[in-house]
Amino acid sequence: MKLLRQGTISVLAGCHSPIHSLVVLIAWRQLYHRYPNAWQLICIGIHDIGHWGKDYLDHEDEKAQHAVLGAKIAGKLFGVKGYDFIIGHNTYESDKRSLLYYPDKYSWVIAPIWWMVSNTFFEPKLIRPNCTRQDSAVMFKKAMVENSKNNFNERGHDIYLKQWRGQTPKYPTKSNAVINKTEEK
Ligand SMILES: [Fe+2]
Repeated sequence: MKLLRQGTISVLAGCHSPIHSLVVLIAWRQLYHRYPNAWQLICIGIHDIGHWGKDYLDHEDEKAQHAVLGAKIAGKLFGVKGYDFIIGHNTYESDKRSLLYYPDKYSWVIAPIWWMVSNTFFEPKLIRPNCTRQDSAVMFKKAMVENSKNNFNERGHDIYLKQWRGQTPKYPTKSNAVINKTEEK
């Protein structure tokens, strides 16, 4: 039995660590020209903790559920707006993109390459086959820059599956997703 699942390592020290939340916060500021309020800030801090205990890189079904834990906690703390805020940061479980959706994606456009490279030491599966750590980081960032020109209609994980693993994502991206308004205030 594996002691540490891919997602647990990722939350502790990899691409879903608190540094990711910090970069999302900076992305939020850049996109919305304001800081999140207190409850939104807490939600940004916990939005990806549901990767804990999941082999999220190898099993798409596990990745697809990663927002549920954070959303449930936010629901307990802040009600529906908290739940929607986190569940809508990706479009597996919800058709509705929350305000967190875009900063979460844009964070990869602004993420420092050195940090993305450092993540590959904890999560070697983030290294693109036949590529260096540096090239893998640069290529993922480039893909997210391209994605940004298309309203971030592609999940980062789908880019990973397609480009790193040659897989067709199982869950169609919901490109017609609408912005959820419940969590704005
Ligand atoms: Fe996430």
